[in-house]
Amino acid sequence: MADGGMQGMMETPGADAGMRSMKEAHQADAGMRGAREATVTDAVTGVMTKAVTDPYQRPLRDLRISVTDRCHFRCTYCMPRERFGDDHPFLPERDLLTFGEIGRLARLFASLGVRNIHLTGGEPLLRRDLDELIRRLAAVDGIEDIALTTNGHLLHHHARRLYEAGLRRVNISLDALDPDIFGRMNGRGIGPERILANIDLAREIGFEVKVNMVVQRGVNEGEIIPMAEYFRKRGITLRFIEFMDVGNDIGWSREKVVTKREMLELLGRAHELKPEGRSRCGEVAEYYRYVNSGGRIGFITSVSESFCSTCTRARLSSDGKLFTCLFASEGFDLRAMLRGGASDDEIREAVVRVWTRRTDRYSDERAALAGLRRRKVDMSYIGG
Ligand code: GTP
Ligand code: 5AD
Ligand code: SF4
Ligand code: SF4
Repeated sequence: MADGGMQGMMETPGADAGMRSMKEAHQADAGMRGAREATVTDAVTGVMTKAVTDPYQRPLRDLRISVTDRCHFRCTYCMPRERFGDDHPFLPERDLLTFGEIGRLARLFASLGVRNIHLTGGEPLLRRDLDELIRRLAAVDGIEDIALTTNGHLLHHHARRLYEAGLRRVNISLDALDPDIFGRMNGRGIGPERILANIDLAREIGFEVKVNMVVQRGVNEGEIIPMAEYFRKRGITLRFIEFMDVGNDIGWSREKVVTKREMLELLGRAHELKPEGRSRCGEVAEYYRYVNSGGRIGFITSVSESFCSTCTRARLSSDGKLFTCLFASEGFDLRAMLRGGASDDEIREAVVRVWTRRTDRYSDERAALAGLRRRKVDMSYIGG
């Protein structure tokens, strides 16, 4: 199993041979309300902490929360127009978790070791009063980091209020500078100008900003160099994402994936790049620094160099299902527990049960699993 260039977190007796590259301190199960609790050492920082771990000793550390399944873009690789037409049955408002429910779950996940929360969608800025949710999450004990991923198109309406509420990091998706290419990719003919302006605005306000670019062969690989130059000059981190086979009917094939190796080769012709690896355990991107100009770029290599061995992410869909992999088919219904009057301990125990049974490693097993043609949940529903 590829490890994305990073040491894994734990020693894994009895785990799949592919997982044995993971080597770090591991103390015996100690029982967290009957759960598997272990001491894990962060391979990047060396800090040791207690955590709930899955059978591959991956601790539960991050929670990605989708706050809506709606988006006003129709990116071909995420919400193709043919499937997400005007009559698409998005979730009705009553099915969405309320901010109170999300806040409660965040508190329970934090008590189980979650430290980072990432808000996604759909397009999260379509959720009304999102700043109110940020304020609640920022007040949760144990949460050290809150980030948001957005298409950036509506950011000028919300950025200041989100910052005031405590949000400090935004990842903004932009796939091309060329208006025709970008317009085709977002399925709405929307140009990049306003998003570029909002990237600048977010920086002015004080956010830490990263830009996400999904690269598809035959579509926008000609934009790799223009995008890299544009953001290098501004000192903004651009991350190249290998086109992934998330969801269904997005026209994915291995041939359309431009790999990190190819991109590095191309980018390295113009600038000397020095590998920096990852800055924290469980991070999906690995980074390279421009030796001469100081900025950096990142790569998210789910296809060519999977990083499942360090996957510490749980996902909460906007209707309250818990998923343990981006490529899952089924989730566990936490909303039913919340609305059915379950106690904090009962919900915690359910989360622990799900996590301690988790064996997902889709990207590692892609080649074998892809042939099964299993229906996956849509990315806009589960949250990227
Ligand atoms: P940072 O905390 O800023 O590093 O954010 P992030 O990279 O974790 O989140 P973001 O929403 O910006 O996601 C960037 C890309 O990584 C998207 O294409 C996600 O779908 C992808 N990604 C995030 N988590 C996972 C994961 O667990 N598995 C896979 N295969 N891809 C992931
Ligand atoms: N492959 C790779 N990245 C994707 N994203 C959405 N769909 C895909 C896909 N098929 C990215 C978005 C956004 C993040 C949440 O996920 O561009 O940056
Ligand atoms: Fe919307 Fe983001 Fe999906 Fe594009 S990738 S359709 S912007 S949720
Ligand atoms: Fe985690 Fe699944 Fe992504 Fe692997 S494919 S890194 S298990 S979310």
